[in-house]
Amino acid sequence: MEEGPLVFFVNGKRVQDAKVDPEETLLYYLRNTLKLCGTKLGCGEGGCGACTVMVSHFKDGKVVHRAVNACLAPVMSVHLCAVTTVEGIGSTKTKLHKVQRVLVENHGSQCGFCTPGIVMSMYTLLRTNPVPTEHMIERALQGNLCRCTGYRPILQGFKMFTAEGRIDDENNNGPASGVCALGDDCCKNNPSWISLYTPDDASQEPIFPPELKTANFSAPLLLAGPRATWFRPASLVDFLKLRMNHPESKVITGNTECGVETKFGGRFYPKLISPVAVPELNVIRINEARIVAGAAATLNEIDAEIRKFCKTSPGARNQVGEAIVEILRWFAGDQIRNVSAIGGNLMTASPISDLTPILMAAGATAKFAKFNGESQIPETSCVPIDATFFTGYRKTVMPETSALLEVLIPHNAENGFFRAYKQSKRKEDDIAIVNAAFLVDFEPDSLIIKTFRASYGGVGPTTRLAKSADKFIGLEWNEQLLTDMSEALQSEFDLPANCPGGFVAYRKCLVTSFFFKFFITVQHELSKKGLCAPVKDSDVSDLDREPFESIQCADVETSDAVGQSKKIISGAKQCSGEAVYLDDMPKLDGELYFGPVLSQRAHAKIKSVDFSAADAVEGVAGHVWWKDVKGENKINDEEYFRQELVTSCGQIIAGVLAVDEKIARRAARLVKVEYEDVSPIIVTIEDAIKHESFLPNAPRLRHDRGDPDAAFEEAEHKIESSVRMGGQEHFYFETNASYCIPIDNSDEFHLHSSCQNIAEGQHSAAHALGVQMNHVKFDVKRLGGGFGGKESRFHLLSSAVAVAAQKFNRPVRCMLDRDEDMMYSGGRHAFYSEYKVGFDSAGKISSVAINGYQNAGCSTDLSVGVLSRYIDHSINCYNFPHFRVVGHCMRTNTPSNTAFRGFGGPQGMLVAEDIISKVADYLKLPVEEVRKTNFLKKGDRLPFGTDDKQILTDEHIIEDLYEKTDASWNLAKRRAANEEFNKVNKFKKRGVALVPTQFGIAFGLKFLNQGGALVQIYTDGSVLVAHGGVEMGQGLYTKMIQIASKELDVPFEKIHTLETSSTTVPNASPTAASYSSDINGWAVKKACEELRERLAPIHETDPFISWEEKIKKAHLQRISLSATAFWKAPDVTWDPIARIGKRYNYYCYGACGADVEVDLLTGHHTVNRFLNRNELNLIQVRDAEIMMDVGRSLNPAVDIGQVEGAFMQGVGLMTMEEELYSPTGRLLTRGPGAYKIPGFGDIPAKLKVSLYDKFSNRHGLYHSKGVGEPPLFMGAGVFYALRDAIRQVNSEPVLDWHSPATVEKIRLSVGDALSTSVSLEFGKNSLLFSIFRQNRRLQLRMLLGAFVDKLVDFYLKLFSLYTFSVVQTMILYKNMSHDISILFSAIKVFINKMASSSLVCKMASSTPSSAVHPLLEALP
Ligand SMILES: Cc1cc2nc3c(=O)[nH]c(=O)nc-3n(C[C@H](O)[C@H](O)[C@H](O)COP(=O)(O)OP(=O)(O)OC[C@H]3O[C@@H](n4cnc5c(N)ncnc54)[C@H](O)[C@@H]3O)c2cc1C
Ligand code: FES
Ligand code: FES
Repeated sequence: MEEGPLVFFVNGKRVQDAKVDPEETLLYYLRNTLKLCGTKLGCGEGGCGACTVMVSHFKDGKVVHRAVNACLAPVMSVHLCAVTTVEGIGSTKTKLHKVQRVLVENHGSQCGFCTPGIVMSMYTLLRTNPVPTEHMIERALQGNLCRCTGYRPILQGFKMFTAEGRIDDENNNGPASGVCALGDDCCKNNPSWISLYTPDDASQEPIFPPELKTANFSAPLLLAGPRATWFRPASLVDFLKLRMNHPESKVITGNTECGVETKFGGRFYPKLISPVAVPELNVIRINEARIVAGAAATLNEIDAEIRKFCKTSPGARNQVGEAIVEILRWFAGDQIRNVSAIGGNLMTASPISDLTPILMAAGATAKFAKFNGESQIPETSCVPIDATFFTGYRKTVMPETSALLEVLIPHNAENGFFRAYKQSKRKEDDIAIVNAAFLVDFEPDSLIIKTFRASYGGVGPTTRLAKSADKFIGLEWNEQLLTDMSEALQSEFDLPANCPGGFVAYRKCLVTSFFFKFFITVQHELSKKGLCAPVKDSDVSDLDREPFESIQCADVETSDAVGQSKKIISGAKQCSGEAVYLDDMPKLDGELYFGPVLSQRAHAKIKSVDFSAADAVEGVAGHVWWKDVKGENKINDEEYFRQELVTSCGQIIAGVLAVDEKIARRAARLVKVEYEDVSPIIVTIEDAIKHESFLPNAPRLRHDRGDPDAAFEEAEHKIESSVRMGGQEHFYFETNASYCIPIDNSDEFHLHSSCQNIAEGQHSAAHALGVQMNHVKFDVKRLGGGFGGKESRFHLLSSAVAVAAQKFNRPVRCMLDRDEDMMYSGGRHAFYSEYKVGFDSAGKISSVAINGYQNAGCSTDLSVGVLSRYIDHSINCYNFPHFRVVGHCMRTNTPSNTAFRGFGGPQGMLVAEDIISKVADYLKLPVEEVRKTNFLKKGDRLPFGTDDKQILTDEHIIEDLYEKTDASWNLAKRRAANEEFNKVNKFKKRGVALVPTQFGIAFGLKFLNQGGALVQIYTDGSVLVAHGGVEMGQGLYTKMIQIASKELDVPFEKIHTLETSSTTVPNASPTAASYSSDINGWAVKKACEELRERLAPIHETDPFISWEEKIKKAHLQRISLSATAFWKAPDVTWDPIARIGKRYNYYCYGACGADVEVDLLTGHHTVNRFLNRNELNLIQVRDAEIMMDVGRSLNPAVDIGQVEGAFMQGVGLMTMEEELYSPTGRLLTRGPGAYKIPGFGDIPAKLKVSLYDKFSNRHGLYHSKGVGEPPLFMGAGVFYALRDAIRQVNSEPVLDWHSPATVEKIRLSVGDALSTSVSLEFGKNSLLFSIFRQNRRLQLRMLLGAFVDKLVDFYLKLFSLYTFSVVQTMILYKNMSHDISILFSAIKVFINKMASSSLVCKMASSTPSSAVHPLLEALP
């Protein structure tokens, strides 16, 4: 094979490179070689979509466009392709593309780091489907995440490209459907929108390069790099010869598996063979007998061909094909499906592959091929994909030096049934926890089973074919089979408690639940033929989302810039990829990259560090560690470089400096750190309590009012309970990044960092460098998100980078990889709260006493502040007359937890809401009634301090806001409708909730409540505004410019902000606490007032001259055109230790109603919308509705964006996001593959957000209020709606409901016999465990002690064996059969089984009542 250069096109320009390193990804090449930095690195593992580009090639006479993850695509894979990046389609300097414009206009970009990827996914879709449907749009965006916007504005904007949302440009009369996605921005009001549908510039629809149409796409290629060689054979013979000659070679199809292995697993493959140009491996043939897919056929190609076949040849035999299509819908995102191949999926031999269960159950065959040296022709062999195909974890029967040629998948029989199922943490773009496929077919004209296969993934080291199915062949398909098969499956897939992968109880549940789903689906089909009792359609339909709808309401009258929905100032640059983030800054001559060496142990002594291997790598300049710190290595209770002891994984030990990132990271892996473990390793709060591991420097915070103990004793009713909230990863899109340029031979330092706290960064760097702060200039241009995560954790990295710059006297840069960032930076504090509550029969609470424990992680950081806010918010908006809360900071060997949107507030509010919910449970009262009974009212006194400032005035509006939300959302009507739904639906339940919030605004430390600004006017009339706040997507710069525009009375466009810098505003408070608009805004206002005053004489003498003339005159008259200003919050008097004084400047209020539907069999849920509008007689039906008090909004569009983004982050916190640690303290959820944040598919199908319309804030800037943090708790609306749904079936008198309510926990909370028995059995000992252990088991354990516990173990095992099958049978008979005789036989089975074991009866009465399903109780 001839060596040749890589040839491809980027944005129309030809690239030819014979020296490219085949190990490089396309993203690395674009950013580093071509300097196209619009495409971002968000995760490097295909999980976030930030790196999406369009790759086009010419095939069968057509140009094929595909969205691709550039972070996984090898640069070699685009040989003879055209790559289009975000820079290629539009620019602020010429014209934005319509996709970019739509995002800008709809406020669809906040921090902007995800935006180029989203633009490119949508752009690619439009290139293929100019008028897509909403479903197409949602599918195209499955592989993209956004952490800021909450997705609504993006989807709403893109709806304009659909036929329904499209503006009717001929008549200029709104969209064809009559409902305009833009609401008031409809083209009727804004004719400029019509330009969306006019053709873009030629430059914006790059044409496919003619050269690539004529080039031979199938031409072979060989390219040898420094370490690896890339082969692209063009024939099967060449391909197989290569396999024979290089047995160590790796076949690379989509690289979506291998790319992750090499980046994160440190694997190295020296010989890479791409079969993309081998025709035999790329075929897809579908005929009446089977589907044949070449090993390199991509998943989306297969999907398209099957759809086409099913359309042209419909029939009952297509169920296997349909199952493939259905499962591919939930398989990753389009970017992955566009490149990953069926061969890659099968040969990865992953136990959670989504396709292999289907292939196994369908009876598919793998055809292998091998080059025969003697005959010189390929030899093929067919191997069934059955129980023998996988020989071990990630191993197959494929003979060495062979390759997979094709996969042959037979259709199901005419009278057969085939279905596949998948359950994952997140419905879209997530790998399975368990997946399964089932096939059954019958002897002619009977229900005698001829073929029966069940295969499961996620229940062992390989995909498994259930042996249990075999024994049912020849038997009749009936209810007895369900019982027997379920029992058989439970024993066949009896996962041990320490089974790798965790979720053991849940996985066991899913094994049976999936079969149950299949069984009722088959029954449903058979019932249509009259072969069995009827099954309702709704029992077998999946939860599905309705097309998305949204409404935003804000009513701010204004005659100036303040109050207008101005677009964020760099929105257009963000959408075009021109916005520069830290790692996009051009490289300087001599620059080095800092490859971090992070601790791999949670608690260990560092015995030695050996840099010799790393230092010897070519391109490495050296290393940096604690010995190189010229200042002090210690700051507070942390070290920049760990010296002797590590107390958590992810701490910085050293850095390796090299000429580029690739070499620095490779060399950093060669640093040998010898550890000696120190015990104990404390991971959970429970561990910390057991070991009395308190943070040494943190006070125990306490707040008392009245005598809660006496009031509790006297109370009519009492509950003692507990509630947990897990931690949360910030998942800002741009990871921590720092860049330091030494100046004047390392006498001064210019630091750039992606951080929210420039003063802290400057101070910390000076401390480490051993220089005065005035030698460090610290700048921040913009962040790709922060959410609190870049307030105080960043500085260890930025200072370490500065130390390296000082040592080598060269610029040094570092941007952490996603997994490193998640290990290094910590997250939201998990809390465990125990409490006692006393109350009367009306639900009026008299006494509350809370004991709260916080997981602070390994150092103090901001934990005391977070604990303090937890305490303040543990009342939420309720009046607890006698009240005590004690808070403890627990030290663990996990990364130091830190600020995160809400800063302890949501954790505190959850306690209050748990109290309210349990009081309502106990009294069997509607929970909202208990809420209203206990609301704080005007005249009530807050429990903090004793002065009159704690007495609530008319500014306290929670009751009014709650009522208003209810009036619009109509809880009672929804509840009634849900009751009807729940009565007739056995396997799905709906729930509703309307949850309030009250959030205090001000920093907890009094001195931080200050802000500064510098406003400068230049002689051309342009204005430069500088202040201490950092722009991270929250629109701060925009709001500040609006203020300057109003105060100076100059157009918004004349004003600009360059960056936030320690040289313009010194000692700035962090951009945090939802207070930055206030503290910086007041300062900007004051500075502008000062300037206005100076300009007043000119204005008075000549009121009609233009602004520009006025400024020129002022300059000539030697009037200073630069003003600084300083502002401090006037009446915040809080003493955090004595806990007296005025704590907050003001409060923000909100309420969220949510309506959800849960699949009881899997725990999957959706924030649904009513389907039958007529029945409800509602004009507008909503699933989630939020009303938020932001005072008089400074910028309604920005504020609504904050509400929606915070809401979705809250939904993630409370329903999906779960940090999992190993018992040795290693964070296991270290990237988007393992840690799930909500995606596009998780937003409510219908969402209404309105801003409370009373401008009540006497203290705020122009009567506005802060908005960043308060809406986060609105995610609790969904959390409590889920509780309400589960309340419909779980018969516990008082239901425990801990956050996050993940699909796993929801399923295990259902309280049916299966979930109860498995969760009791597997409550502990799981290899993976979250920051809390399973609660029910823990409580039982606490009560019974170790000895009794052993006995319980024994009993429970027996109990679970029996009760599962008995109760499951009973439920089924009860639910599915209308035949009374079947019901009697069910009772007979039940009695027989009970009689056979007295133990069962004993345990049934001694276990929690939830062991018995309420449906069973209803039996006669
Ligand atoms: C973000 C993300 C999401 C994902 N989601 C899912 C999901 O939902 N469900 C799921 O099942 N998987 C998922 N995966 C895993 C992975 O993408 C799939 O398994 C994919 O199908 C692998 O295909 P590939 O072509 O990219 O494999 P590659 O990485 O190219 O190769 C994988 C393995 O197959 C071997 N191989 C490929 N072709 C041949 C051949 N012809 N002969 C012999 N060996 C061969 C390779 O040598 C390699 O060992 C996901 C991965 C990512 C990164
Ligand atoms: S950076 Fe490629 S998908 Fe996240
Ligand atoms: S705007 Fe999407 S991640 Fe920030």
